[in-house]
Amino acid sequence: MEAILETKKLSHIYSAGTPFERGALLDVDFTAYQGEYLGIIGHTGSGKSTLIQHLNGLLKPTSGQVLFQGTDIWSDPKTTRQTRFQVGLVFQYPEYQLFEETVYQDISFGPKNMGLDEAEVDRRVREAAHFVGLRDEQLEKSPFELSGGQKRRVAIAGVIAMEPKVLILDEPTAGLDPVGVESILGNIRDYHQAHNATIILVSHSMEEVARTVDRLVVVNDGRIPFHGAPSEVFQHGPELEAMGLGVPQMTRVFNRLRAMGVDIGPSVYTIEQAKAAVLAKLKGVG
Ligand SMILES: Nc1ncnc2c1ncn2[C@@H]1O[C@H](COP(=O)(O)OP(=O)(O)OP(=O)(O)O)[C@@H](O)[C@H]1O
Ligand SMILES: [Mg+2]
Repeated sequence: MEAILETKKLSHIYSAGTPFERGALLDVDFTAYQGEYLGIIGHTGSGKSTLIQHLNGLLKPTSGQVLFQGTDIWSDPKTTRQTRFQVGLVFQYPEYQLFEETVYQDISFGPKNMGLDEAEVDRRVREAAHFVGLRDEQLEKSPFELSGGQKRRVAIAGVIAMEPKVLILDEPTAGLDPVGVESILGNIRDYHQAHNATIILVSHSMEEVARTVDRLVVVNDGRIPFHGAPSEVFQHGPELEAMGLGVPQMTRVFNRLRAMGVDIGPSVYTIEQAKAAVLAKLKGVG
């Protein structure tokens, strides 16, 4: 697989040289591959948001490099600008950053900035709105008339409308009810498939990432202690717990069964998967 985004020995120190100095990332080597659905997981304050804000050039490294398609994004201003358009970032609680008079204007802000003509902007606004399940008549409303969940959809549509090659979402499901969570995750999956885009989903729920992503990067205390397929990462149960990150409940049960000598598959994260694994096992025995 080809790398699309990489960091090389990336460090970030906030408020360097003041009494508030805080090392948030320390020599981080990170890779996202073209077309993958990657999860980033870590406890509060571990450095997830700091890491992803480097990936589209919003934060500048204190030291180290960020490469997009092999080029250092800070090598010249044109590359930095291009990276901001091609690596779309949906912030944590993005609904607080809506500011235009109508939903349509809010979603069109990014594509307009890219210098696209009006017809293309219009096409993208409508397609992005459709992706996140906003109805046409909602486009002419003020974003402030919408519910919290709908505002978040508007904010996500605003980034999708730039048709980024890499779509990064910082805890997009935080605070939503289970139906809202499923619906947003479905929208993201649709974007992934329709555009063959790379997705980076930040989460602090193991259950959520386990059933969503292809690969998982664990962030702890400004470093990446492990990464790999969820089934590989979940082999590190005790270390994850020490970082305040439990493995999914079903995975814990199945890890215990395996430790007891039951020969059962490693990729069980949900009740549905557990049921299938147990049934397969019983059929195999019977
Ligand atoms: N603007 C800032 N100035 C100073 N310190 C900061 C700033 N932003 C973050 N930090 C500190 O850097 C560390 C990493 O923060 P970051 O926001 O990247 O963590 P996070 O993993 O995204 O956390 P959360 O899950 O709560 O969103 C924390 O100790 C945080 O307090
Ligand atoms: Mg964060």
